Amino acid sequence: MAAAIDPVIITIDGPSGAGKGTISRIVAKKLGFYYLDSGALYRLLGLSAVRHQISVDSEKGLMALAEHMDIRFETESNGQFKVYLEGEDVSLELRTEETGLLASKVAQFPGVRLALLKRQRMFARTPGLVADGRDMGTEVFPAAGLKIYLTASAEERANRRYKELLEKGEDVSLPALVEQVRSRDERDMSRDASPLRPADDAIELDTSTMSIQQVTDQVLNILSVKGIK
Ligand code: DC
Repeated sequence: MAAAIDPVIITIDGPSGAGKGTISRIVAKKLGFYYLDSGALYRLLGLSAVRHQISVDSEKGLMALAEHMDIRFETESNGQFKVYLEGEDVSLELRTEETGLLASKVAQFPGVRLALLKRQRMFARTPGLVADGRDMGTEVFPAAGLKIYLTASAEERANRRYKELLEKGEDVSLPALVEQVRSRDERDMSRDASPLRPADDAIELDTSTMSIQQVTDQVLNILSVKGIK
């Protein structure tokens, strides 16, 4: 019997708004790989906790929920990425600032991170996986073939979010968004459990002045130089 081929793992970590989601999806599609949006798991947990009236301060309650949450990720024929919680499409609710804040809170607990670890590793399938998050390269897939750490200045990340929200017709203040981005960074980088930091063997890319196309080309170029794909 032929030996099973290990899936190729590419991790893309970094702070919120650095472009991880967009880049990861494009790269996964180009390579025909699976995609893991690990932030969505933390967001789903926050949302599920509120719906089941479990306090986001209760590590035990959150751990039980994290293990048993009924969730499903689907890519539709038009390429749209959908997320379901207990059979309900929560894709839009998942992306709100409020859900992001809940996610950042539940993500602080070591027990929660451990409960989600196994679920995240189950996404690794042949031919490969692009895993997007904060600790993909440091904790979840430490043996990944390629680790990228995407950054951009807080101002630029807030500006990108500002444009996104304006397009959706939401009334927002840019200085307030800069403040939100900074405080989320602070929380994600200073927590004890798997804080946001580049893996020692990660390649760092500052996307502040780069287009989506330029970042994608760089990642694909690194892959080919490394002989991965
Ligand atoms: O990437 P995102 O904005 O959807 O993530 C939401 C929150 O989840 C983020 O503030 C921190 C947390 N998170 C995490 O702790 N570890 C991950 N691998 C992904 C997200």
